[in-house]
Amino acid sequence: MIEFRNVTKEYPGGVLALDEVDFTIDKGEFVFILGHSGAGKSTLLKLMLKEEDPTDGVITIADYNLNKIRRRKIPYLRRELGVVFQDFRLIPTMTAYENVAFAMRVTNVAAREIRRRVPYILKIVGLEDKSMAYPEQLSGGEQQRVALARALVHNPKIILADEPTGNIDPKLSIEIVELLKEINRLGTTVVIVTHDIGLANRFKARTIILKDGRVVRDTKAKGGSAT
Ligand SMILES: Nc1ncnc2c1ncn2[C@@H]1O[C@H](COP(=O)(O)OP(=O)(O)OP(=O)(O)O)[C@@H](O)[C@H]1O
Ligand SMILES: [Mg+2]
Repeated sequence: MIEFRNVTKEYPGGVLALDEVDFTIDKGEFVFILGHSGAGKSTLLKLMLKEEDPTDGVITIADYNLNKIRRRKIPYLRRELGVVFQDFRLIPTMTAYENVAFAMRVTNVAAREIRRRVPYILKIVGLEDKSMAYPEQLSGGEQQRVALARALVHNPKIILADEPTGNIDPKLSIEIVELLKEINRLGTTVVIVTHDIGLANRFKARTIILKDGRVVRDTKAKGGSAT
């Protein structure tokens, strides 16, 4: 489902963000990518989304070879990936409902389908009462669940969550990971990027440890629905 083969990313100015990174994540796995600030975690996600290109190496996501993918196919790639960004990236002038609906509208989903699906997804993330609230009226954890709802709306094959614990308290971060675990049980591949070693240990899932842009450890899956 996700394959990195000797991937190196050097940013202009000479910062080596990733250094020969090599791993494979199979369909249905639940994986933490753990690393301190600056280890290269967000860079990994940007490469998967083709927001950045690697300096070297091969990345394959859901059968798309990202080195070869045509520009007009990139939106299809991105629809396979539901991303919860570190800073949530919600639109401040739109309610929770509209934020999720907008993600569908821009891909030309029919209005009737949007009206059916958005309440369903908001219910999954436990936000049915907050659908008319604007981001500034929501707590950090609630904003994060809007971002997760938006990531789920296209029924992606893979969910990527960048630092789900960054802007919320520890209890809420456990809840969001439990929610992601539930989504994983329903068949979606889930990758959680975090610096929170306690969180990764608590869930006993496969953990890939990044240090200064290199994979220094990759545990075998001990739990989760990994096969
Ligand atoms: N656009 C950029 N241009 C130059 N250097 C960058 C750029 N983006 C990231 N970097 C550098 O690449 C390295 C990895 O950054 P990255 O954002 O991937 O780290 P991270 O693991 O996500 O950190 P954090 O936990 O703080 O979010 C850092 O040294 C960072 O300063
Ligand atoms: Mg980051």
